[in-house]
Amino acid sequence: FSLKKYNTFGIEAKAHEFVAVQTVAELKKVLSENQDKPKFILGGGSNMLLTQDIEALVIHVDLKGKRILQEDEDFVWVESMAGENWHEFVLWTIDQNFGGLENMSLIPGNVGTTPVQNIGAYGVEIKDTFVSCDAVHIATQQTKTFTKEECRFGYRESIFKQEAKDQYVITSVVFKLTKRNHHIHIAYGDITQELESQNVVTPTLKDVSNAVIAIRQRKLPNPAVLGNSGSFFKNPVISKQQFETVQQQYSDIKFYEVSPTEVKVPAGWLIEQAGYKGFRRGDAGVHKNQALVLVNYGQATGQEILALAKEVQQAVFDKYGIAIEAEVNVI
Ligand code: EPU
Repeated sequence: FSLKKYNTFGIEAKAHEFVAVQTVAELKKVLSENQDKPKFILGGGSNMLLTQDIEALVIHVDLKGKRILQEDEDFVWVESMAGENWHEFVLWTIDQNFGGLENMSLIPGNVGTTPVQNIGAYGVEIKDTFVSCDAVHIATQQTKTFTKEECRFGYRESIFKQEAKDQYVITSVVFKLTKRNHHIHIAYGDITQELESQNVVTPTLKDVSNAVIAIRQRKLPNPAVLGNSGSFFKNPVISKQQFETVQQQYSDIKFYEVSPTEVKVPAGWLIEQAGYKGFRRGDAGVHKNQALVLVNYGQATGQEILALAKEVQQAVFDKYGIAIEAEVNVI
């Protein structure tokens, strides 16, 4: 079974066996009937690089549906099933004037995978509105609700990348969104400029979403046109001491302070300075507008993308002594 359509990098890789589940009951049944087989859980396929065929039963989480669980005058609690497309879900919340997700418009992937890496963009992360998620324990098929605290969110981090890795299938997520007095976040990046260029003075949720969409469309490749998984690397967080040493040699280095002792450096800048922005070998490349994104021009294999990723990591390390880690799951 070809997985080419099931991963946004558009890599040709095969699944030994494939099943799509549409309900939680079906998911539990498939898990219990295949206890002894190796299993691979597939969501939107937007944050992985397949470097080989998958010798396992691939279970595609295709659970659909969304609903309002509860509301008061100020807030609404919305639940979405894991298989809903993230961007469509965000647009649905904005259409109803529910605030909190607008900065994360146009992020590829499905709702169910957003907690895994605590997706974020333009100064907002899902942990800011996340309430809880339900997940099925693969070994016992019991449903467990993870509260926000239990998820232990960090920068592109959660328990689902640590102890709970490969043990649960997230089936639904609950967000608490605003109905009025929305917290509009436009300080980050180019959002303010984008709104100004559109002559927007008091931005609505829709205005913010449209600004984010415009910026992303300019910078980030559309996976339907050019295979990619968004940022391939995380922005490295390094000690202030190490940062100051690098800064002595490269005074124009960009950075954000994350704590009194730590600094985050944009990996896109490091990669661009190392000369790799727009670089291409065969069908594997570094995107021309955003060096943090690796792209598949068509027929690249996962191995070729991975080789390029390693080369980029090495070049950045050789030049700056800074190690950059993959954000994407390399399979
Ligand atoms: N930069 C360069 N060259 C590049 C790319 C970036 O010099 O080729 C510089 C920019 O000039 C800017 C800085 O790096 O000063 C930051 O760039 P940008 O605002 O594009 O954001 P980023 O740090 O590269 C992160 C997220 C993105 C998210 C954007 C916007 C990570 C790993 N990535 O990228 O998330 O959309 O911020 O908030 O944190 C993703 O995770 O897949 C993703 C796309």
